[in-house]
Amino acid sequence: MQLHEAMRTTPAVREFTDDPLPDDVLHRILDHARFAPSGGNRQGTRVVVVRDRATRQRLAELNEPAVRRYVAQSAAGESPWNPLHPPGPSPDEIAATEVPEAFTRPVLTAAVVLVFVVDLGVVAAMDQDLDRIGIVGGASVYPLVWNVLLAARAEGFGGTITTMAVAEEDAVRALLGVPDGFAVAAVVPLGRPVKQVTRLRRRPVAELATRERFDGEPFTP
Ligand SMILES: Cc1cc2nc3c(=O)[nH]c(=O)nc-3n(C[C@H](O)[C@H](O)[C@H](O)COP(=O)(O)O)c2cc1C
Repeated sequence: MQLHEAMRTTPAVREFTDDPLPDDVLHRILDHARFAPSGGNRQGTRVVVVRDRATRQRLAELNEPAVRRYVAQSAAGESPWNPLHPPGPSPDEIAATEVPEAFTRPVLTAAVVLVFVVDLGVVAAMDQDLDRIGIVGGASVYPLVWNVLLAARAEGFGGTITTMAVAEEDAVRALLGVPDGFAVAAVVPLGRPVKQVTRLRRRPVAELATRERFDGEPFTP
């Protein structure tokens, strides 16, 4: 598969066939993905490969608290889990919100689930002293996560970056025996997509990039 095609046609896959994703194929995916960059090339990310049914069931359950808030805020027209705008719905309303199966099913039905954790002891975070949430630290782990999805795409597989379980990080770490000092970055179900989406809805370049300044001309050739 051509690089550009893979970049343009790698969607969030949440529905999987029963096809297995054998260890040798997964190893190849990880072997391509491992060339992702990280700050200072410290390579602090570790991947836990989960196939066990009970572990996945628990991971699915650990999504639920964050999904409740996500769904309640979405229904209220809010940008869910935004750090600048606290939720309008009350804690009681959030607690009473139903968890749609679509949020928990992927980790149960995927061929395999990858949990990405990162060693905070080697992550570079140049925005750590700013008065806002950290963004830079994530850049030492998510390029690898995305490389996994691109490499999976090339093998005919797909998945989704999911982050709901991160809100229950201590429980995820306890479940998987992840030591103190590691952060959970993503839970990625991987499998054979039921259907291959080929058109993704994304902003055109002119809405994404400007010349010279943020308020500059839209970038067009
Ligand atoms: C940082 C990040 C966190 C995400 N968390 C979740 C998640 O918890 N659950 C989920 O179903 N999708 C999650 N997604 C997937 C996005 O919803 C998806 O990439 C986006 O809607 C685009 O979907 P598309 O490629 O099918 O167009 C996440 C994506 C990113 C990049």
